[in-house]
Amino acid sequence: MNYSFSSYGRGSVEPSPVNRMMAAFATDFRDAKDINLGVGYVNEKTIPTELLAEVVKEIASCPQDFRQAFNYGGPQGAPGLIQALRDYYVEEAIGGMTEEVMSAQEVVIGPSGATSILEALADIFEPGIVITADPMYYIYCNHLERKGFQVITVPEEKEGLNPASVRRKLESLGDQAQRLSFFYVVTVNNPSGNVLCNAYRRGLAQLAKEWSARLGRLCPVFFDQAYEWLIHDPEAEPPRSALVDTPDAPVYEIGTLSKVLAPAMRIGFMLGAPGVLMQALVQKTSDVGFSAPLLNQEIAAVMLCRYMHDQVARVKAGYRAKSEIVGQAIREKLHPWLEEVCGGTAGFYYYLTFKNIRTDSTSPFFRYLARTTGIEKYDGPSGDPYPRVVYIPGEFCVHPGGSLKDAGMRQLRLSYGFEEADAIVEALNRMRDAACFAESHV
Ligand SMILES: Cc1ncc(COP(=O)(O)O)c(C=O)c1O
Repeated sequence: MNYSFSSYGRGSVEPSPVNRMMAAFATDFRDAKDINLGVGYVNEKTIPTELLAEVVKEIASCPQDFRQAFNYGGPQGAPGLIQALRDYYVEEAIGGMTEEVMSAQEVVIGPSGATSILEALADIFEPGIVITADPMYYIYCNHLERKGFQVITVPEEKEGLNPASVRRKLESLGDQAQRLSFFYVVTVNNPSGNVLCNAYRRGLAQLAKEWSARLGRLCPVFFDQAYEWLIHDPEAEPPRSALVDTPDAPVYEIGTLSKVLAPAMRIGFMLGAPGVLMQALVQKTSDVGFSAPLLNQEIAAVMLCRYMHDQVARVKAGYRAKSEIVGQAIREKLHPWLEEVCGGTAGFYYYLTFKNIRTDSTSPFFRYLARTTGIEKYDGPSGDPYPRVVYIPGEFCVHPGGSLKDAGMRQLRLSYGFEEADAIVEALNRMRDAACFAESHV
């Protein structure tokens, strides 16, 4: 007998193909042998474990300063954390943020990281069209589709999602464009690592304003800034906040402390104009868990006030150094086969496009690295295969209905976050062997 599931429930029964692939790899992952370039995990060394432990101790021992930190919290977020975020943005002038602009914004803390805010949006908005870049943040796009949204992707450029291309896409949709719900733009794109330039950012905000006027309802743009504090290339253009540069456009910024502090804290937040959207978001937090864990919010507030400036500088320096080593190794080892390399200027992804080599999960290249070619010479003994390397195949990163579908079969995302640089260089040696194998086993 079946359950009477919603279409979301039905769509969620089977794990998505990428989750299946990662789960299969995780079940028999061998530490210090297999190399995981697939996960978006941060590098363990970036997490200030001792400092976090000290702050927890302080919070627990000073109930007069940190009231009821082990109790339930309010659904908008801990007042101390909200204030700490406001102060941090203004003091660090993040995106050009000023006291005046910040005082016009609402700040809401999600119940469990930026992910929970993205999830809330999928619940709050009437399912319709969401416009995003291709390649896309596959985790959220997959979620949106299970929630009944139609994700329409527009190929991005090195400078990010070009508002002129988005405009053309919207015009080409004809009457269908009436179903536009919102724009979702990852400012340091996951998977490509491309950084959205300020001109495009302003253009996208203007476009959201224009289409809102045209449709007679607000179609905002949500800028997902998960990696924006981690722009580490000194040559990169410093990002500007759309809240500062386009204050009359319907824009919201989604941030997280996951990548700069610790994913386990699950602290994500949204900045934007006060009003019904923020109210609905607060209600949603209440519905799913009352609040983010209050203890974590108090820790985050202390970290922001005292240590975040140095913490972010340290994390950025670490990823910069790795990005350079890995970037050079990519060029040295894979050059003959590569058509394009993106990323490496922010966060911790490179996105590779090969000229002719297929990267999908049934390709010889993938199977060589997963040690599933079926040929012992390449796989090693069946009980104890040679070191394996996992990456995210481009087939999962591009929209299956978009124009990059074929290109995605020759692409991959490589994360230099989790593994140490020497392991990644070793993985690139294996990738070079895999490319040779793929050429002789088409
Ligand atoms: C683009 C993007 N948005 C959001 C998230 C999730 O952030 P959080 O850990 O705050 O839920 C990630 C995590 O990898 C991400 O890549």
